[in-house]
Amino acid sequence: GYGAGRPGGYGDFPVVRPRRLRTTPAMRRMVAEHRLHPAELILPAFVREDLREPVEISSMPGVYQHTLDTLRKAAAEAVAAGVGGIMLFGVPEEAKKDAVGSQGTDPDGILQRALREVRAEVGDDLVVMSDLCLDEFTDHGHCGVLDERGRVDNDATLERYAEMACVQAEAGSHVLGPSGMMDGQVGFVRRALDEAGHQDVSLLAYTAKYASAFYGPFREAVNSSLTGDRRSYQQDPANARESLRELALDLAEGADMVMVKPALPYLDVLRRVADAVDVPVAAYQISGEYAMVEAAAQRGWIDRDAAIMETLTGVRRAGANLILTYWATEVARRLS
Ligand code: PBG
Repeated sequence: GYGAGRPGGYGDFPVVRPRRLRTTPAMRRMVAEHRLHPAELILPAFVREDLREPVEISSMPGVYQHTLDTLRKAAAEAVAAGVGGIMLFGVPEEAKKDAVGSQGTDPDGILQRALREVRAEVGDDLVVMSDLCLDEFTDHGHCGVLDERGRVDNDATLERYAEMACVQAEAGSHVLGPSGMMDGQVGFVRRALDEAGHQDVSLLAYTAKYASAFYGPFREAVNSSLTGDRRSYQQDPANARESLRELALDLAEGADMVMVKPALPYLDVLRRVADAVDVPVAAYQISGEYAMVEAAAQRGWIDRDAAIMETLTGVRRAGANLILTYWATEVARRLS
């Protein structure tokens, strides 16, 4: 038999006992296969034009639409906690939205102003990233410009992204996150940056971005104008293999880092991507993932802090080096 016999005839008890390595917190800590580190966490943050006070996002308790001033403070707190990076999203004045998202390419647009403020605050002590997408700035809420039939026009959108990329780089972004899921966006933006002398600005490609119901709270966070959905450009949740095709394209186009988004419902995709690449892999724990944990915790249905750590550990275990999470600063503090 497998184990040592025991007089009395009930059969063998085990010699090999995995529980031995679970006996004490110190033992468990020592044998942990994966651990989280503050430097791998990236804080997504919203900054809204013409606010006097920060506004809490009702579907994301504890997350705010920042003023430029409170954004600076949040960035400084992230640095103090050892967080690795910050990803900025701009929310323009409603009246300034238009069909082509002009505010996204205006050097004085809210996102560009925020980039300059945050860089002035943190210098190079925090990796400063910006969302490279038009949806926050268009009056129809789509991630690109529309053709005469109302469809998102891929190539016309690429021209807008190229301009936007240069303006964001000029404003001080270290890393651009093209999140619109247009074909060819990474290569097009890379070329535009290089031609403008921004060879040092990195691209974090949204490689596998799914059309997800879990973006719901984000739409509130950015005062989204979207009425339809994004299924003609974001991926179908039924597809996993397709992500490897997107991955091959992004790498060929010059992506420095790749991302899977959302995180929790797509851990299998994350694992497949992580196994396939030699660049850093990020996962975005999105607004709806945040909201469901916070909502269940508010009702007393789950242990909030334990649930947060478990979701992040699961994402790490599935292969992410970097995790974008709205809990970044809080968790970084807890880790150190
Ligand atoms: C697009 C963008 C979205 C998110 C990040 N970038 C929204 C969308 O694709 O609809 C979602 C992030 C989140 O839900 O936390 N600019």
